[in-house]
Amino acid sequence: MNKRKSAPVTVHVQRIVVRHDFPVVFTRHLFSPRNRALRDALTRDGDSRRHRCLVLLDQGVQTAFPRLPEQVGAYFETHAKMLQLARTPLVLPGGEGIKQSAAPVRRMLAALRAGNICRHSFCIAVGGGAFLDAAGLAAALFHRGVRLVRVPTTALAQCDSGVGVKNAINYAGAKNLLGTFAPPWAVLNDADFLEALPLPLLLDGIAEAVKVAAIKDEAFFRLIERSARKIQARDLPTIRRILQRCALLHLDHIATSGDPYELGTARPLDYGHWAAHKLELLSKHRLSHGHAVAIGIALDAFYAARIGLLPQKEADRLVAMLRTCGLPTFAPELSRTDRRGRPAVLAGLEEFRAHLGGELTVTYPAPFGSRREVHAVDMALMAECIAALAARL
Ligand SMILES: NC(=O)c1ccc[n+]([C@@H]2O[C@H](COP(=O)([O-])OP(=O)(O)OC[C@H]3O[C@@H](n4cnc5c(N)ncnc54)[C@H](O)[C@@H]3O)[C@@H](O)[C@H]2O)c1
Ligand SMILES: [Zn+2]
Repeated sequence: MNKRKSAPVTVHVQRIVVRHDFPVVFTRHLFSPRNRALRDALTRDGDSRRHRCLVLLDQGVQTAFPRLPEQVGAYFETHAKMLQLARTPLVLPGGEGIKQSAAPVRRMLAALRAGNICRHSFCIAVGGGAFLDAAGLAAALFHRGVRLVRVPTTALAQCDSGVGVKNAINYAGAKNLLGTFAPPWAVLNDADFLEALPLPLLLDGIAEAVKVAAIKDEAFFRLIERSARKIQARDLPTIRRILQRCALLHLDHIATSGDPYELGTARPLDYGHWAAHKLELLSKHRLSHGHAVAIGIALDAFYAARIGLLPQKEADRLVAMLRTCGLPTFAPELSRTDRRGRPAVLAGLEEFRAHLGGELTVTYPAPFGSRREVHAVDMALMAECIAALAARL
């Protein structure tokens, strides 16, 4: 073989375009037999056969709404010509614990198998963000992906995690390390579920709304700021409006950012999240995702001010607004240091980079309503921001 001559290479570039349309519905009394939202979502393929469904239910939701399984049964009886329940709902404990091992996903897979769920049937997952993340993974794995209908029941799930295209469980001490990108068949947000949520769980959703407003929509940012006292007073109509707008902003971002499956290195919707994910782990999940996000966006707003992207008084405004809502902007885990005496949370930056791969890319508000991506973070400056946040307590 002539070593100087390069070997002939034939490259055929194949394009595959897969389009996804899925309804995101905002309703009330979802399982009231007269509400057609679920039936319409399940039958939107136009198939005249009965649609077989397996319901996975977050135990926290069942505790708050003990009649729910009965209501689901009655709904399917009313619409029996078109819908069929594969078995009684599988109930599993929700919350972050469900993402901490593969065992709950295995139980869901076993139920999908026992229920004879095929690629034309449905997995209907009813629960908070953690439960939906685990159920979404089971649905995406089973038969290489069965149709998933999400019924998010927390504020954060209704405005953020439940409307998106991701699912995951935690693995080897890292958040969301095992998961897939899989758009749902439909998302059905029932505002009635919010009524059972204590204020902190409502505020988890508000934290994600502040996050997306800060980098995408200044008018929305001002609206949340004006509503902060009402939010703190648990004014549900105000909270509902904010969650709905937040959901639409997330959806718009996924649809129009050009990177729905996060193949690039930037992840604007994860403003504040490098710190948030680390704080969740450092606190052993004492801090909820939403509360950790509030602290993460406050920290990154301070950093944005230090590097001249945002006036300091704007960063202070964000802190004041989060606090008025009732959200934290500091936690003791922020002051924890590693063996070298550096703030332990800073390891979250490298973990964030490693998760996305490639160059470190962190998104900052610059100013509110717009964003800037930054590829290097000055650790000493970030440590100063932590101290500055602590001083504002
Ligand atoms: N997939 C994504 O894109 C994405 C995005 C953001 C967050 N997340 C994940 O979402 C999770 C957080 O979700 P969350 O904030 O919804 O909390 P959660 O799912 O941890 O739920 C908190 C608690 O509320 C209970 N619960 C759920 N609905 C209830 C209701 N209506 N009434 C009373 N109790 C109810 C649950 O049983 C649980 O005990 C984290 O694991 C986070 O990583 C995922
Ligand atoms: Zn988040």
